[in-house]
Amino acid sequence: MAAEAYQIEDIPGVGPTTAEKLREAGYETVEKIAHSSASELYELAEIGEATARKMIKWCNSQTGSDASQTDAQKGSDDAGDDKILMNAKRLDIEDIPGVGPAIAEKLRDGGFLTIEGIATATPSTLSEAAEIGESTAKKMIKWCREQADIGGFKTGVEVFQARLLVKKLKALVPEIDELLGGGFETQAITEMYGEFGSGKSQIVHQLSVNVQLPEEMGGLGGSVIYVDTENTFRPERIEQMVNGLEIEGADPQEFLKNIHVARAQTSDHQMLLIENSRELAEELKKQGKPVKLVVVDSLTGLFRSEYAGRGTLAERQQKLNRHMHDIFKLCDEYNAIGLVTNQVMSNPAVFFGDPTKPIGGNIVGHTATFRIYLRKSKGGKRIFRLVDSPNLPDGEATFLVEEGGLRPC
Ligand SMILES: Nc1ncnc2c1ncn2[C@@H]1O[C@H](COP(=O)(O)OP(=O)(O)OP(=O)(O)O)[C@@H](O)[C@H]1O
Ligand SMILES: [Mg+2]
Repeated sequence: MAAEAYQIEDIPGVGPTTAEKLREAGYETVEKIAHSSASELYELAEIGEATARKMIKWCNSQTGSDASQTDAQKGSDDAGDDKILMNAKRLDIEDIPGVGPAIAEKLRDGGFLTIEGIATATPSTLSEAAEIGESTAKKMIKWCREQADIGGFKTGVEVFQARLLVKKLKALVPEIDELLGGGFETQAITEMYGEFGSGKSQIVHQLSVNVQLPEEMGGLGGSVIYVDTENTFRPERIEQMVNGLEIEGADPQEFLKNIHVARAQTSDHQMLLIENSRELAEELKKQGKPVKLVVVDSLTGLFRSEYAGRGTLAERQQKLNRHMHDIFKLCDEYNAIGLVTNQVMSNPAVFFGDPTKPIGGNIVGHTATFRIYLRKSKGGKRIFRLVDSPNLPDGEATFLVEEGGLRPC
């Protein structure tokens, strides 16, 4: 049976609007849809994932694929996404030409754990760390830059295409969601800073719940990778918040299952947890619960206590920079939201206005796409201030933290 005999309008459930969206997304034929992956299709054609699967199944049956191929099709979800992931394939530092185990170890000892870390290093620091000549170091940096595509250009069209996939997660506090232009964005890191008790961890818990809801309810139908550095993740709080949603049949245990928490003991451990989370992310994608939220609460706590003296500030900043970069890459690859929290320190140099500023300063600030400053106000009210955003006006929203979770004032 020739697939050409069918138009995409012939697919059950596809009306003119969906057909148009499919064509715009490049799916002009039944054949093409048969060979696409559900996740690709549902992101590009803005249809539900289940609908996408049904469509692919139907198209497969029309193009003469048998049941075993349909099974294979399930797996090809990953194959399809792997195509996208191929460019961003995770290389280890052992993959660098000329780097054997001995140099790799020296590099790691010197804090160069990833290709990106080396790509952004200077030849002199690298040659010192790995005890290699500067010209070798230069070659290594060049190779890593090529692999990491650092300094590479994308066309506006490519950037636009990637932006089309950006999803928004709702806090389900209308004032906050409006301020954020619809919600917390994927493919970006949002940094929330504020003093103790300002509500950072509460928001993190709430979003860990909300992200699991289906898109129609403001979620992204995904799971959570949660790095907890201060031992403040509370399953009971998740339970209260799930109950607080008042959704019939919502089981807190099911929500807890999709939150993958790791407790970081040191800043190096914290970095490693993110670097190694790709395996988990791949696994989650296979299970149909792709990671859509990556939390680091708190981003700076361990760094702050370990790198106390002034003399170690540069090293701390370099590591934080690399860490932020790794979080960003993860979120970019899996179309997830990066959410990091940061405490503030008082800045004695400020005499007027607010004498607090976030830890990590510019490094964190420049890598985060959105910055939010949280403050406690009168009567239990909390202020959520959007400080820095590439495409939204700054502004404030207010909210309350109640037993059932975040609530409008
Ligand atoms: N079950 C609850 N019901 C009502 N309010 C709660 C509940 N749990 C926590 N809160 C509120 O949230 C506050 C704690 O906020 P949160 O843990 O988010 O602070 P934080 O900004 O993360 O602070 P830190 O910098 O110390 O981590 C508590 O002081 C309380 O006001
Ligand atoms: Mg906290």
